[in-house]
Amino acid sequence: MNHFLNLKDIKVYDLRKILADAKKRKNLRKKMNTLEIDNGSPLKDKLLIQMFEKSSLRTRLSFYLAIKQLGGGAVTLRSNELHLGHGGESIEDTAKILSTFGDGFMFRTDSDKKVEKFKTYLSIPLINGLSPSSHPTQVLSDIFTVEEIKKKSISKLKICWIGDSNNVLNSLIAASVKFSFKLSVGCPKKFGPKKEIMHWVKKNKKKVYIYNDPKKAVHGADVIFSDKVISINDKGNKKLKMKEFKKFKITNKLMNYANKNCIFLHCLPRGNEVTNEVFLGKKSHVWLQASNRVHVQKSILLYCFGKLG
Ligand code: CP
Ligand code: NVA
Repeated sequence: MNHFLNLKDIKVYDLRKILADAKKRKNLRKKMNTLEIDNGSPLKDKLLIQMFEKSSLRTRLSFYLAIKQLGGGAVTLRSNELHLGHGGESIEDTAKILSTFGDGFMFRTDSDKKVEKFKTYLSIPLINGLSPSSHPTQVLSDIFTVEEIKKKSISKLKICWIGDSNNVLNSLIAASVKFSFKLSVGCPKKFGPKKEIMHWVKKNKKKVYIYNDPKKAVHGADVIFSDKVISINDKGNKKLKMKEFKKFKITNKLMNYANKNCIFLHCLPRGNEVTNEVFLGKKSHVWLQASNRVHVQKSILLYCFGKLG
């Protein structure tokens, strides 16, 4: 079995295997209905338990469909309905029960420490469905989308992130090292990536280009990514932050500083970091990006269950 917690810790060989499997499965599903089961029912009789401590639309639905299409089932828990959520039961005991009843655990949380603790006590695969420090399932799926649209390896493209240095960017940085693509980041000075992340990049002999001018950041970009300026449960001064990010709004004018065929991607939900013209415009592929999560999630599940070819 394998956990799926952070792209930094997964071999690129395995990440590539997941992407290849997702491509194959997506092609095979063209004429299939939503809940039709993939040939061979590879996760027949397996139960995925999902738990959310924070809101979710896409991650919740895509994991539900993913396990169902592989022949298994899912149950979704809200942490505040468990004893754990009220401090009435330990992570250790909760993890033992989850491992007794379920075959895999997908967890969205506000605490990286909790991810580590669950990992210690679970005897079933654990998937990080978003934590303060990373959103690995989102970014692996985004790489799938980029390669599907651009029809070439992401290592041949220049990727740009305009936005906050949040969990999604952390995973994108990890991916840039793993998949060797050029990554530029456009953000206000105070909101750059954390030192330890940049240190990890340096340790791996790679570079991420940080600009405090959005035009410089998007120059020559093939893909522009963005995300909400204010993440769920962001503890900082929101008003001040929004003001700082004002000149980083993604407009058609800013898109014009990138490559002619540059595409726009956004993990959703969106705030006002991007104009409607860009978000709903020709260069935007956000709906395909969201729908691809099902395909990639399926191959992540197979990797976790040790069933990936
Ligand atoms: N992009 C994403 O993870 O969406 P949800 O928060 O709706 O799951
Ligand atoms: N950075 C965002 C991503 C949401 C999918 C958040 O953590 O809220």
